[in-house]
Amino acid sequence: MQHTLYPPSRLGDHPWRIVETGFNAVDYSLNATLFALGNGYIGLRGTFDEGLLGAESDAGCYLNGVYYAEPIRYGEKAYGYARHNQRIAAAALPHELTLALDGQRVDLRCGEILEHRRELRMDEGLLYRRLRWRAPNGPVLVLESRRLVSLTERHLIATEYHFSLESGIADIELASSLNAVPGVMTDSDDPRVGAGIHKEDLVSRYSHASEETLALSHHLLSSGFTLSSAAAHHFDGAPVQFIRHASEPFRATSHYRFALTDQTSVTLTKYALFDHSRGEPVALDNRLKECRRHRFADYARAQTRQMQQFWQTADIEIDGAPRLQQGLRFNLFHLFQSLGRTPDTNIAAKGLTGHGYDGHYFWDSEIYILPFFLYTQPQLARNLLLYRHRILDSARARARELAIPKGALYPWRTIGGEECSAYYPAGTAQFHINADIAYAVRQYHEATGDDEFLRDIGAEIVFETARLWPAIGHFNPHRDGQFCINEVTGPDEYTALVNNNFFTNAMAQRHLHYAATVFDWLQNHFPEQARTLYRKLSLKPAEVAQWQHAADAMFLPFDATQGIHLQDDSFLDKPRWDFEHTPAEHYPLLLHYHPLTIYRHQVCKQADTVLALFLLGEQFSTEQKRRDFDFYEPLTTHDSTLSACAHSIIANEIGYTDKASAYFEQVARMDLDNHHRNTQHGIHTACMGGTWLCMVQGFAGMRQRHPQGLSFRPRLPSGLSGYRFQIQVRGQQLSVRVDERQVQYRLVSGDNLRLRHEGDSVSLTRDQPEASFPLATTATPSPHGAAR
Ligand code: BGC
Repeated sequence: MQHTLYPPSRLGDHPWRIVETGFNAVDYSLNATLFALGNGYIGLRGTFDEGLLGAESDAGCYLNGVYYAEPIRYGEKAYGYARHNQRIAAAALPHELTLALDGQRVDLRCGEILEHRRELRMDEGLLYRRLRWRAPNGPVLVLESRRLVSLTERHLIATEYHFSLESGIADIELASSLNAVPGVMTDSDDPRVGAGIHKEDLVSRYSHASEETLALSHHLLSSGFTLSSAAAHHFDGAPVQFIRHASEPFRATSHYRFALTDQTSVTLTKYALFDHSRGEPVALDNRLKECRRHRFADYARAQTRQMQQFWQTADIEIDGAPRLQQGLRFNLFHLFQSLGRTPDTNIAAKGLTGHGYDGHYFWDSEIYILPFFLYTQPQLARNLLLYRHRILDSARARARELAIPKGALYPWRTIGGEECSAYYPAGTAQFHINADIAYAVRQYHEATGDDEFLRDIGAEIVFETARLWPAIGHFNPHRDGQFCINEVTGPDEYTALVNNNFFTNAMAQRHLHYAATVFDWLQNHFPEQARTLYRKLSLKPAEVAQWQHAADAMFLPFDATQGIHLQDDSFLDKPRWDFEHTPAEHYPLLLHYHPLTIYRHQVCKQADTVLALFLLGEQFSTEQKRRDFDFYEPLTTHDSTLSACAHSIIANEIGYTDKASAYFEQVARMDLDNHHRNTQHGIHTACMGGTWLCMVQGFAGMRQRHPQGLSFRPRLPSGLSGYRFQIQVRGQQLSVRVDERQVQYRLVSGDNLRLRHEGDSVSLTRDQPEASFPLATTATPSPHGAAR
């Protein structure tokens, strides 16, 4: 594991707040990510309103689902390579507020900072700031602000500023803008960093400024999106004079002036609205008028109410570890802020906090993030899957391009639906994405019982994606006719283009069996819809029989000598990576070695076989899991933040409790402590989802599987004295409490819930809503000591 760059105490250990005190320019971009706010549609990085000299490129405002689509320029092209990259678009910065105090620009790099404090209040959904700043030889300005990206009015960002002086008198000049001036292209060898904006792609549609309002619109030629924004100012307190306005193609600004004494103050509320379309700019004037009827406090109250509702069901409380509690809540908070709320949006690997990975959606959504929403706010999980249904046609077109005659192949990375991965060995070749999405459909249906979804949306996804496997696999005569799938990449991106990746084959097997089950289910329960769908897809029982046959004959590589699953056919033929002589600064390996150097070794970037042990856990004995874990864990660098949570969960299952806790700690504080040293480019949403997985599916051992149903096997992580959470299953709300002595289940709402505790059946009803059991313990020493 990488070392922690920043001492954890840097951000306090308040259970509901992330607190920055003082100012250190070195942390500015990292904090811009950590203090970002979002509402699933808009994301605003936590940069200062007044800016910071030389750090302009740290600012960012993004709209989910809106992107540039520039052609990918390959040196050497080949048939079927992804053609366009979709890159999350930069919206106008809504908060730019250049300030001058008696003619001196307010900037934290100059003058004297007497006090600086920012607080991200996760219970309120607001970012607070307090600055006391003295201009060289000047008076002390006190600037206090509150910012929110509204969870109730999804187009709105509102900020309230309060200006006062500690002594003397001063003139303040204030220039408030909407700023969409194109940034610079970034040029980095790090594939995880997205690039900047192509200036040629932008056309200004209009730019207006007046005494009270600003309006800006620009069009993205490459993708056809038009982004519109408008802002209004409302002043209270000492008199404020409007000086002038200025509009340039990508920036609209209003200039104001006011005088302050130590007896007076000025409060400014700035409302900024955003929208987008595929054609003409969206008129925002009326909506802006409507917003201005409300004070900042109204929006702040509504925001807090939304957050309370969220936490009521989503929170996981833990006792005895404030730093972990803070990290855990931070992660769940950011997931809530990042998740798209409409079927044309999903959740990006970096949320809406940065342009890392170009704002793409990956399998992260279904495998790592969906379960948290599924068991806390299922309608949001549903939305993730509606998005996949919406892009099904693009996935069909992509399948044809790859000579897959029927069905669909989902893109490895995308925003609008088309494959955007320019590096196919670690992109398109990750065919497992089809099985991952089908897995999520099944999970969703099992947890919610939403038959209508499976009938109208899910079934079509499951069938179309299943068609991939017979097209790319074959019954291999050299393996006794077993079904083999060649030339794929599994989750471990340090091993590419292999035959029979265990994860892929096992997930495909599950997928094919499930597709056959859904075929029968639909026919039995909804014969009319089944007929229509089967006609539309030209799906016949013979094809389904072929799915069954492939699933039954699926080849799952196994090494009998060592008793372990093989990550792929060739894994054991490779030499082990020389971990002993790899300097710590050479991690992550991807930044220091050519892919081919990595590919020819036994080295894993992230959980691959270990992840299969979790997702398909009921197929494997505990002893098998232990053998596989013992083999793969020492070969895994965890260079991907997706890795640690899977290791924590399996470590739990096999009784390596200390390891489970050590991995969990990394997961819970991945971004707060910047473990991977790249949080400045955005948060890691999959890892954040992994936090919930570690607690609920890891420590509490929750599983929901057909036909066994809901089950738990709770353990207490070392260092904690208890934890509590709630889940929603098929409309019923269950609370689970674990402490040093016992486990308590309580039916919070619903009539009757059956579950299994440590294998024993428990029934909770309205009359008997509670059941308690002594806490079981199992611990097995791990052969490799604590987590690497
Ligand atoms: C991981 C992928 C993941 C992507 C986005 C990569 O580093 O290897 O599995 O989907 O990051 O989070």
